Amino acid sequence: MPHLIAPSVLAADFANIQRDFEMINSSEADWFHIDVMDGVFVPNISFGMPVISAMKKHAKKPLDVHLMIVNPDQYISTFKEIGADILTVHYEACTHLHRTLQAIKAEGMKAGVALNPHTPVGLLEDLIHDIDVVCIMSVNPGFGGQSFIENTYNKVVELKKIIKKKQSATLIEIDGGVNSDNAKLLIDAGADVLVAGSFVFKSSNPKSTIEKLKSI
Ligand code: DX5
Ligand code: ZN
Repeated sequence: MPHLIAPSVLAADFANIQRDFEMINSSEADWFHIDVMDGVFVPNISFGMPVISAMKKHAKKPLDVHLMIVNPDQYISTFKEIGADILTVHYEACTHLHRTLQAIKAEGMKAGVALNPHTPVGLLEDLIHDIDVVCIMSVNPGFGGQSFIENTYNKVVELKKIIKKKQSATLIEIDGGVNSDNAKLLIDAGADVLVAGSFVFKSSNPKSTIEKLKSI
């Protein structure tokens, strides 16, 4: 499968969100990556349901919603209602992860699990068939524009081995500090989805930056 590109709209211009969504609609991007931060699980607050509903009206590609929040279970049906297609929760925020994943799937969404940089990928082995996307955080979650953590490559290789051994269709997504220096190495290591925020939106031509990441 060719790799997927998911621009992180955290780095978009919120005063011109329709314009930036139309750019992504007409680009080679595959998903919209939407970062939800609650100021508790991570030391930052991004945006919530009304903003995502407004974004959904302009999105012609799937919404990949990354919840950096505590107690995600209580909002699963709400995120479905406002248009999430893939709903990702953090391993570190879920005491009963298996139950959470089943609840996401019962709503008809794809289920994702994100791992902080300190969380080993091996912890997901027993659940891998229940996970559509593993989001390996390559920065500490909470902010865009941070530097890529090099140990991510080892995590991708190890997770790919588990996915192959278990013959699972789980995708590996990389989130944080993705740019043209690390994108090819990540794909060669086994990544399937690259999230990119600052690298896309701070570039002089975001659409052609997406095209370059897609054509690696
Ligand atoms: C970080 C977010 C990322 C972030 C990526 O907490 O989960 O999705 O927006 O931004 P860049 O690509 O700028 O590191
Ligand atoms: Zn994210």
